[in-house]
Amino acid sequence: MKIAIPKERRDGERRVAASPETVGKLIGLGFQVTVEKSAGDGASFPDAAYKDAGATIAATAAAALKSADLVLKVQAPEAAELKNFKKGAMLMASMGALSDGKGVAAIAKAGITGFAMELMPRITRAQSMDILSSQSNLAGYKAVLDAASEFGRAFPMMMTAAGTVAPARAFIMGVGVAGLQAIATAKRLGAVVTATDVRPATKEQVESLGGKFLEVDPEMEKDAQTEGGYAKEMPPEYFEKQKQVVSEHIKKQDIVITTALIPGRPAPVLVTKEMVESMQPGSVIVDLAVEAGGNVVGAKLGQVVTTSNGVKIVGHANVPGRLAEDASMLFGRNLLNFLTPFVDKETKKLEIDWEDEVVTGTLVTKGGKVVNERVAKAAPAKKPAAKKAPAKKKGS
Ligand code: NAI
Repeated sequence: MKIAIPKERRDGERRVAASPETVGKLIGLGFQVTVEKSAGDGASFPDAAYKDAGATIAATAAAALKSADLVLKVQAPEAAELKNFKKGAMLMASMGALSDGKGVAAIAKAGITGFAMELMPRITRAQSMDILSSQSNLAGYKAVLDAASEFGRAFPMMMTAAGTVAPARAFIMGVGVAGLQAIATAKRLGAVVTATDVRPATKEQVESLGGKFLEVDPEMEKDAQTEGGYAKEMPPEYFEKQKQVVSEHIKKQDIVITTALIPGRPAPVLVTKEMVESMQPGSVIVDLAVEAGGNVVGAKLGQVVTTSNGVKIVGHANVPGRLAEDASMLFGRNLLNFLTPFVDKETKKLEIDWEDEVVTGTLVTKGGKVVNERVAKAAPAKKPAAKKAPAKKKGS
């Protein structure tokens, strides 16, 4: 069975769907692997490393894809790429399937059996296959480093001969995978860390990392989590209460990192214009939800904006891609962990169990149709509200 790893073609995407390490493992499982020339360049994986692992290097995407039975990608293919796929080929990628109905329909129309890896069910067995976790973890870390590099002060308290430097105060909004890593990273850098989330289970997690939890309304939060472990969209009364609590807190913060997401919906607005205006000049806000519409009023996708009161709002796109080597290595492992249980050890053939929860959860297209209920129910291709303004791009 043939696997192809094409070069990613979306703007600014430096990741690749397999590292030389995972290519070696796929070959060990019995697959033949073809990697498109320079597919790993953005992630510091040269062609020679893939070759040493046993892959064939193809000069073009068309050559890599023409006979591939399975294609591994970071992002969903664009229309021009779909033309190169063999009819009936399988595709595993991050597709944004709940918000890009048009993209999923094009994949179905091309006759591809598509797995949207971001829909992986949140069950213990699937933790090692979860691309949202592996990528969000890196994004949470990088968000703190991005904040630190925009900040004109130090994070830790420093007692020097010339005087004492006060520690930075960092506030993390949304304590999922990214938020937890942001808390841990800010703590390691010496900041005084507080955090908030709608899911009550996060209080203990924040405290176990040495942060302080900012409570909004424990009564309303009792019902804030879906069975799948995600946050629900909260009622307007909650946002009002949250606004009051956060307004008081945020004006004393130097660094704010927002990570709040609701699957398939625009990100909730957590930081209002008034809150930004209440912060001190030099403070930095990083909006990790900017691609889903943004948690912060004034955040702009792909930009670092400085407000009239001197607050910087960082809205980098594709933050995991800013750590392309580790992000690709972990993404590749997620795909490998998904595939491995379906490889028959005797025949070395891929035998997908179409009834398995990890397959029914992620399978979105088959036999020319969209077959996933969650995707079919999701609102068709609604563009997030964030304004794209590539001019004045900074630091990415
Ligand atoms: P996410 O990326 O969907 O959202 C980020 C965070 O924002 C969440 O903690 C959410 O509760 C919070 N949020 C949403 N609306 C908010 C609001 N209005 N105000 C404040 N916070 C708000 O979440 P993520 O990172 O995917 O994690 C969700 C849960 O799933 C976590 O408990 C995580 O540990 C769990 N998980 C389980 C896995 C498994 O068992 N296989 C794999 C990955 C995550």
